Amino acid sequence: MIDEKTEIERLKKDCIILAHNYQIPEIQDAADFVGDSLGLCQEAKKVDKPYILFCGVDFMAESAAILNPGRTVLMPELKARCPMAAMLPAAQVREAREKHPKAAVVLYVNTLAEARAEADVTCTSANAVEIIKALDEEEIIFGPDKNLAWFVQQRCGDKKIIPIPAHGHCRTHILIKREDVLELRKKYPNGEVLIHPECTPEVQVLADRICSTEQMVRRARESQGREFIIGTETGLLHRLKKENPDKIFIPALKKMICPTMKMNTWEKFLIELRERKNVVRVAPEIAERARRATERMLELSK
Ligand code: 13P
Ligand code: SF4
Repeated sequence: MIDEKTEIERLKKDCIILAHNYQIPEIQDAADFVGDSLGLCQEAKKVDKPYILFCGVDFMAESAAILNPGRTVLMPELKARCPMAAMLPAAQVREAREKHPKAAVVLYVNTLAEARAEADVTCTSANAVEIIKALDEEEIIFGPDKNLAWFVQQRCGDKKIIPIPAHGHCRTHILIKREDVLELRKKYPNGEVLIHPECTPEVQVLADRICSTEQMVRRARESQGREFIIGTETGLLHRLKKENPDKIFIPALKKMICPTMKMNTWEKFLIELRERKNVVRVAPEIAERARRATERMLELSK
């Protein structure tokens, strides 16, 4: 009987495995590429094998299908749907555009393809400020994360950011409270506090740096510091520890676990790599329009 590792190597001959930084350690270790939403978009576009096994959530896999339509994109679990992405229906984007005809529509990639098709450009937490600064429009309709919208507004004072929906948020990132960070700051006075912009403004103001997941990995690598308080989903700690074995990483909140990301279990991963049944489908006319907005993001964030 062949062992699991040999079987995976054999199955990977025609399939690239892309995994988000929040995936379980076993999946991250088996992946060809692990990264944040932006890195995964850039990587998906380059894939030249027929299959992409995308280990993350729905909107990320849709990005891969949109950017590389010639490939078959698979997911270990098709029900891994990001609740924040579902908070912004396409109709609400159209309504906002009618109400603010001079505004540009910038949507966080954490949005389903149908809504993204209504956008002028998309962004991720790594490039939101860069993208918005590059636009001529002074008014920006921005969704669905109101906390990322707040982060952007603080850095783009000459623009008016209009958040849609008013209460879009990530259920996992809003779990961290000010007290959690303040307590850890007391316990680790030399610790560098890295916070994801999906956290609330009250938490963001306590950060040394506000970063996407990949920016956290980069900062941990480059910083002279030895202790880091990590304000994001705890899956990122696997990579941080693996790549920096002599540094200490403390989760800002241990229960900060995204249930959707964790729907991709090792068992489902293996089944999908073998059987290839969970195909991610985006209607061609939606994909075409969503591609324009997603490609524009990649161009503007070069
Ligand atoms: P990153 O793009 O920073 O990895 O974030 C994606 C995400 O879903 C955060 O909750
Ligand atoms: Fe969505 Fe939040 Fe999970 Fe990221 S952490 S996938 S935004 S629910």
